[in-house]
Amino acid sequence: MSKKLFVNARIVTPIDKGKPSSGKDQGLVRSYERGSVYCEDGIIKEVGDEERIKELVCDRDIDMVINCEGMCLIPGFVDPHTHMCFAARREEEFSMRLRGASYMEIHKRGGGILSSVRSVRDSGEEELFLTTLSNVESALSMGTTTVEIKSGYGLDTENELKMLRVIRRIGLETPLDVVPTFMGAHAVPEEFRGEPDRFVDLVVEEMIPEVKKQGIAHFIDVFCEEGVFTLEQSRKILEAGMRAGFKAKIHADEVIDTGGAGLAAALGAISAEHLLAANENNIASMSESGVIADLLPGTAYSLRKAYARAGKMIERGVPVGLASDCNPGSCFTESMPFVFGLAVMNMGMTPEEALVASTLNSAYAIEMAARVGSVEPGKQADLILLDGDSPTILAYHAGVSPVMAVYKLGELVA
Ligand code: NIG
Ligand code: FE
Repeated sequence: MSKKLFVNARIVTPIDKGKPSSGKDQGLVRSYERGSVYCEDGIIKEVGDEERIKELVCDRDIDMVINCEGMCLIPGFVDPHTHMCFAARREEEFSMRLRGASYMEIHKRGGGILSSVRSVRDSGEEELFLTTLSNVESALSMGTTTVEIKSGYGLDTENELKMLRVIRRIGLETPLDVVPTFMGAHAVPEEFRGEPDRFVDLVVEEMIPEVKKQGIAHFIDVFCEEGVFTLEQSRKILEAGMRAGFKAKIHADEVIDTGGAGLAAALGAISAEHLLAANENNIASMSESGVIADLLPGTAYSLRKAYARAGKMIERGVPVGLASDCNPGSCFTESMPFVFGLAVMNMGMTPEEALVASTLNSAYAIEMAARVGSVEPGKQADLILLDGDSPTILAYHAGVSPVMAVYKLGELVA
């Protein structure tokens, strides 16, 4: 058995009360000025003041003592919403947006997601794996130790399964925990242009059963948006997915308020994502149904839109999580430190709220909280060291990653 002791760390961790943290608990953390973490075989056994922990474990044969040199130790980031599996970047499209074209205009002209669909369909599985791997390794280097990755650039059964196989392989061949989401309803593909309902039928009748049969995804997600899938089409797809045994997520009210947040509440979805334009009634309904709000401030930044109203959601008791949305279109970043900084500076979250959001609540949003999301006994020793005194450094030291070391299951991985 491997026994490791982290010493001389300023530990800051969310406190897992067995459910996502909301309301005043959104910013609930525990700190140890000079703290220590003891773990066995990658699982945390003890956390606390260094003196007390040293005493507690003095009779164990410790294999390795890691001196954190006073750096801030927090849980590894959990990124609960990404599209990191893609084949090609879309820099030219970003330039078009800088010159005034809107994201949805580009989408309507057959660019955007549909351009990523063409490149994924054209690329071999190995090639797709390598691009995805490079995105995931970059995320890991900036402290992401658990990640959700969606399909959704295949849009036919064969290519959706190809993406999901790549995502599975990322989980097997990297240190990260990877949670796969099936997002066959990310857009209506060219060959179904003008016939969205026929495509919805394909998703429901062919893709969902096949993905389920292969046991290759955990969640189902839909892009519910004007010009993509209507509320009714989204409902149909998510209900079919839920009947098949998937938990539901929904891209809701990202550009226009179409009522997606309300649909998430009505269906009892695990989370609603984006919510830049979500209205107040639907935010209240999310609170009543316990839907987690996964906020993606990098997307508001990249699309130059008003940020989601995190303060309103927290005040209403909606648990807030944070994610990168990493994708080649609406937001190209793998960096949770960047997302953290935007949440604090542009969404008005406190550093403590952003910490809980980017670790514990994000873990709940992908059903991983039993294993990750806080530095507490029984959870994996997924720990990161920050070059600063507290998580505030993530907002303060802008434009860089203050993540100095990344431990997954107690092993140094970046
Ligand atoms: O979350 N909104 C839909 N999906 C992504 C964008 C994907 C893309 O542009 O490739 C998002 O913003
Ligand atoms: Fe997304």
